[in-house]
Amino acid sequence: MSFPVIVLISGSGSNLQALIDQSLQGKLNIDIKAVISNKADAFGLERAKKAGIPTHALDHKAFTSREAFDEELQKTIDQYQPKLVVLAGFMRILTETFTQHYEGRMLNIHPSLLPKFKGLDTHQRAIDAKEQEHGVSVHFVSSELDAGAVILQASTMIEADETASSLASKVHALEHVIYPLAVKWFSESRLTLKHGTAYLDDAPLAETGILYHSGLA
Ligand code: GRF
Repeated sequence: MSFPVIVLISGSGSNLQALIDQSLQGKLNIDIKAVISNKADAFGLERAKKAGIPTHALDHKAFTSREAFDEELQKTIDQYQPKLVVLAGFMRILTETFTQHYEGRMLNIHPSLLPKFKGLDTHQRAIDAKEQEHGVSVHFVSSELDAGAVILQASTMIEADETASSLASKVHALEHVIYPLAVKWFSESRLTLKHGTAYLDDAPLAETGILYHSGLA
């Protein structure tokens, strides 16, 4: 039986596409029950429709408060009874009630080597800070922004002539490798969150998670 997942997006949805592709290729045994976006024009919704996945556009601007939006979002998600909620470029700050409800069963991908560069504009900030390397992290979602237990990271060198856009492309390519892998681990019950620490195969992961290498499966 495949594993019910809900994916939340706000934009292009290339990470969603990576999950769809790996499912279609039989590499990932998940069932994406629905894709939900807070933006009706998010291109990721088109990707979902093309793959025959139900979509919901829930405009946050139509709600009077963050709480009211998150409540409706939770209702929309829970009608599908997912075992995992995947945030894939979902550009919203979430309420504590919402994050607690999905504690240990909601993942996010953040384009930096956490704990460095939480928040926005991570690629430019990494260049400005003269970092030698930059990358991406998959983590469990906690109530604090980009601060939940890290599962997996992948890194790339920052070259002398690097721009935010060239760096973003390199990081995106890494995202499409490590996010499906973390989702696969979770769907196989290999990945858990216990008392704020991520565990893979019952071994606690370091503060920065595992650094991706091609032998990981
Ligand atoms: C990615 O860079 C991800 O790390 C960040 O938002 C972006 C989403 O890209 N959280 P996409 O919509 O999956 O193409």
